[in-house]
Amino acid sequence: MSEVSATKADFEPKIIAFFCKWCTSAGADLAGTSRINYAPNVVGIRVMCSSRVDPEHVLEAFREGADGVLIGGCHPGDCHYQTGNFKTMRRAAFLSNLLDALSIDSKRFRVEWISASEGRRFAQTITSFTEEIRSLGPLSRKRLLKESARGGNHE
Ligand code: FES
Repeated sequence: MSEVSATKADFEPKIIAFFCKWCTSAGADLAGTSRINYAPNVVGIRVMCSSRVDPEHVLEAFREGADGVLIGGCHPGDCHYQTGNFKTMRRAAFLSNLLDALSIDSKRFRVEWISASEGRRFAQTITSFTEEIRSLGPLSRKRLLKESARGGNHE
C-alpha cells in the first residue's frame, strides 16, 4: 500500500516546525529582518528548547494534517540547557524508526541545527524541506489513525 493517497497535482505541503527559542527561532527572525525569501508552507511553534518536543507532539502533528514535521534547535554544544539537543538527537532516531513502523517515510521528519546568526541557513532549510515534502506528495493518514485507535490514548 502506498503512503501517498492523493494526487500530487496542486499539492502544497503543510509543515509543522518546532523551533527552539534561543537559536532556530532567532534564526527565523533574522531571515525575516534580512528579507530572505523562503517557502511559506511552515507553521512554526516556538519552544524553549528542542528537547521540549515529545515524540507524541510529532505524531499528533502528522495525525492532525501535517505532511512534514521539522524540529530546529541549537547546534550540538550550544543548547542553552546544556544537553537538551542531545536528547533531541536520541528522540529523532527513535522517531525515525517509529515512523518507519507506521509506514510513514522518515524523510517527512527532520531535525536541523540552526543558530541565531544563520538566517540564510534557516531559509534554505525551510525551502529544501518543503521541496522534499512536495516530492513525496500528501501523507496518507490511514495507517497512523488506525494505529492510534488501536493503541488508545497515550496517557
Ligand atoms: Fe536550543 Fe536547547 S535551547 S536546543
